[in-house]
Amino acid sequence: MMNLATQLDELRSRFESALTEAGDERALEAVRVAYLGRSGEVTTVRRSIGALPPPERPAAGKTINDAVEAMEARLLAAAASLEHRAFEAELAQRIDVTFPSIPAPVGSIHPIRRIIEDVAGYFGRRGFAVVSGPEVEPDYYNFDALNIPSDHPAREGFDSFWLTDTLLLRPHTSPMQIRTMQEHRPPVAILAPGKCYRRDAVDARHLFQFHQVEGLLVAEDIHFGHLKGMLAGMCRELFGPEQQVRFRPSFFPFTEPSAEVDTTCPKCKGRSAECNMCGGSGWIELGGCGMVHPNVLREVGYDPEIYSGWAFGFGAERIALTRYEIDDVRRLVDSDPDFLEQLQ
Ligand code: DAH
Repeated sequence: MMNLATQLDELRSRFESALTEAGDERALEAVRVAYLGRSGEVTTVRRSIGALPPPERPAAGKTINDAVEAMEARLLAAAASLEHRAFEAELAQRIDVTFPSIPAPVGSIHPIRRIIEDVAGYFGRRGFAVVSGPEVEPDYYNFDALNIPSDHPAREGFDSFWLTDTLLLRPHTSPMQIRTMQEHRPPVAILAPGKCYRRDAVDARHLFQFHQVEGLLVAEDIHFGHLKGMLAGMCRELFGPEQQVRFRPSFFPFTEPSAEVDTTCPKCKGRSAECNMCGGSGWIELGGCGMVHPNVLREVGYDPEIYSGWAFGFGAERIALTRYEIDDVRRLVDSDPDFLEQLQ
């Protein structure tokens, strides 16, 4: 009996110093396994009971159970104090609450998107529906229905990416005129912004993928004056209250008469012969426009004796370069956030 008690005392004192040394949860668990685990030291002691004379065994068993109970309690206490120490350490950490926080990156609207939204907003507030359509078009919508038959030289100007003999990436948004008029009876008033593609070599003025905003109004008694008024209003909204528009005679197969539209150079207001924005001309070209050709109206089943209308197609990149005074269109697709976030 004496022997067992001494044995347990010795075991418990080793157990105590192991507990003191255990610096974290894993070390504590290792101590538990070594002493109280299934094949730990206590189990070895328990087995020695078998060697005692039977009458002494129950008392020996109780002595061991008491020791185990005490050791388990010590183990729990050690775990609790470890946890407490970790918490205290955390509290003791010094945090500088005045340190400036790291700003979360906030995106900005891309200038092209901004231009499209501004133009769409202007026309939208005047009753125009904003519509979008496919970027892959059959040649019918892109050419034939727009009064550009297959042998027409104007096709060359729209040199595009052909996917099959009859399907191409649209080089302009004008096919949306046809799609809209085929689906709706007049009056129609739409603004169709979207991506276009042309086989152009990329340089400071050209991208092979760009954006246009297309406008179309067809109703009874529509004339060129309506077009001029709408475009002048649009330019004043986009660039400022002093903007003027001018029209230069031009040719598009789907309009008659046709014109190119310019607006006052917003940078020099037409007052500087050295302006690098307009080259000293005082004007910035926006794109083409005109009165919808009777052949186009007939193609979609509108009677040109009753209905007339105007249309225009402007380059969104061109408007962005002018408004933000950017000298190279490639800047818009470089995806350089430092550059883009300046253009608000
Ligand atoms: N689609 C023409 C182009 O990309 C621009 C254009 C001219 C559109 C006259 C029109 C228009 O709607 O009436 O060059």
